[in-house]
Amino acid sequence: MVDRLGRDITYLRISVTDKCNLRCRYCMPEEGVCKKSHSEMLTEDEIITAVEAAASLGITKLRFTGGEPLVKKNIVSICRRAAAANGIREVCLTTNGIRLPELAGPLKEAGVKRLNLSLDTLNEEKYAYITRVGKLEAFRAGLDAALKAGFEKIKINSVLIGGFNEEDIPQLAELTRQYPVDMRFIEMMPMYDSGDFDEKAFIPCTRVLDYLPDAVPVGEDDGVAKLYRLPDAKGNIGLISPVSAHFCGCCNRIRLTADGKVKPCLHSSDEYSLKGLDFSGMQRVLKEAIWNKPAWHGDLDALHRSQAGRNMNQIGG
Ligand code: GTP
Ligand code: 5AD
Ligand code: SF4
Repeated sequence: MVDRLGRDITYLRISVTDKCNLRCRYCMPEEGVCKKSHSEMLTEDEIITAVEAAASLGITKLRFTGGEPLVKKNIVSICRRAAAANGIREVCLTTNGIRLPELAGPLKEAGVKRLNLSLDTLNEEKYAYITRVGKLEAFRAGLDAALKAGFEKIKINSVLIGGFNEEDIPQLAELTRQYPVDMRFIEMMPMYDSGDFDEKAFIPCTRVLDYLPDAVPVGEDDGVAKLYRLPDAKGNIGLISPVSAHFCGCCNRIRLTADGKVKPCLHSSDEYSLKGLDFSGMQRVLKEAIWNKPAWHGDLDALHRSQAGRNMNQIGG
């Protein structure tokens, strides 16, 4: 379905939980999230009805996110049922990778086509610092499991954090020579509460190229990422600039939170509830949300933080 500005909305991102087994400093408070009652969250059946209603309006691509989607007990069943919905062509998932050794095989078998993994540094101490509780070797085991399970076009996301991981850029980029993966660098978006990070932590994506003098443009974009490639690499380098060059004009996505709110824009407080509705009720609300998708999200910087009214773990990026 097209919105009132003519943008064709084909991509739905579904956050299945705001919980996570890591505590990345720019994403979540150390103590984790307040427990919500089950009755506030979408049930598995409601998620599938929402997928079917969205597909009836022209959504063809789904991405499951979190928090961390793989801490959700029934995630494999959700993926299997969503992949089987009429009109859905591609089911993808964004994960921190920690649970992939157990779940990569079952997810592949359930019909998940692609995985994106989050990794901000390849230095063990820094990984433990930024995730507060994570171990780099657990991430590596997850990446190995994803490759072994036969996932293609795996993408690794690094959030650029000034004073923290700038000098890690070359080492992270080397992953594209070691493995058939894309390495994407993302500008940090100033969320409602981005932890310890202020305006000095912002690095524009263009800075990445200063660290990668051999990278050449690929000449095409991949969704929101501008692509480059290192000589002899098996995968691309992607630059995602939500802050310095927003892509609202060609945005094709809407979001659904674990408590059933449709967010037509990542950085807007507009929310439309699907909780408790049947197929036609969900279809009606989704239509209203898509039609009213905001034109753009306004400036984003230290003085103009996201108006989402939620942290990243409650939206899923
Ligand atoms: P592909 O399907 O592989 O293209 O994935 P993706 O880039 O859509 O998803 P992913 O979950 O890997 O997100 C990568 C980064 O892009 C995250 O930091 C997201 O927050 C950011 N991002 C994704 N969609 C949007 C958007 O609509 N607006 C903004 N500002 N950022 C977005
Ligand atoms: N800005 C940009 N990206 C973020 N992510 C989490 N928080 C932020 C932020 N404030 C990234 C994660 C994950 C993706 C879905 O969003 O690292 O890869
Ligand atoms: Fe968890 Fe991802 Fe947030 Fe890190 S960025 S705390 S892995 S949801």
